[in-house]
Amino acid sequence: MDPADFYTGIVADLYGPLKSFSQDPEPYAAFIQHAGLPALELGCGDGDPLLELRRRGLDVEGVDSSADMLERLRRRADEQGIRATVFHQRMEALDLPRSYRAIFLAGPTFTLLPDDDAALAALRGIRAHLAEGGTVLVPLFTPAPTPVEQLGLVRTAVAPDGAELRFSVVAEERDELARTQTTLLRYERHHGSDSSVVERPWILHWYTRDQFEKLATTAGLTVTAVTDPDGRPAPASATDLLHFRLQAT
Ligand SMILES: C[S@@+](CC[C@H](N)C(=O)[O-])C[C@H]1O[C@@H](n2cnc3c(N)ncnc32)[C@H](O)[C@@H]1O
Repeated sequence: MDPADFYTGIVADLYGPLKSFSQDPEPYAAFIQHAGLPALELGCGDGDPLLELRRRGLDVEGVDSSADMLERLRRRADEQGIRATVFHQRMEALDLPRSYRAIFLAGPTFTLLPDDDAALAALRGIRAHLAEGGTVLVPLFTPAPTPVEQLGLVRTAVAPDGAELRFSVVAEERDELARTQTTLLRYERHHGSDSSVVERPWILHWYTRDQFEKLATTAGLTVTAVTDPDGRPAPASATDLLHFRLQAT
């Protein structure tokens, strides 16, 4: 399976019910206020924080590689009476009719791109869709290995139709040289005699600050700031979530 299709089918169905937290919209609202409109969220999924930003009247559009996640987003938008423009595309093959003053990802979704080639293609696409004077926000982190005692532990939830949903980490491989962690995840849905069980590899690919800055430079972008999510300057050694801001070179 292509990594860009991970959040489809049963994974998209279970995404909402199993979600443990929602992206805080504030850092992204503040970013857009500073960078300007229109704005574009890459990997918008089922709508957090895009729907809240739209509710505030901000001109924000979305892109996601999963038609199933976008269907969930559209359903949530209808329920909340919000209009949202979203595109079913991969961020490494962006082809949109507009350019944007603010392009961002909410949370470390950029690490779902499985290698440096995909990252470079995404950065080039971002550069091509950046309006003059525009700014990009890419949150990045270095994932920690899943603690051994959590392997096999099952999290459960109940679907709106009463089905039992189960999620667990089956196994994990980490390649420090390739900066890639592949976690085998199991998703289960049980309803009476009806059961579906799917195991999928979830790939995370990370960067040192230097490596990310080099890729950005190759794509015609310059890193102008690296901060923590609250905008405070980040120490060089930080492995927590960092917000990289970029502008056209
Ligand atoms: C962890 S979800 C986050 C969604 C949302 N921001 C949230 O917090 O609920 C990541 C999203 O990125 C999308 N995605 C993964 N790879 C992608 C790619 N190459 N291009 C565009 N979207 C991608 C997935 O389909 C998924 O909807």
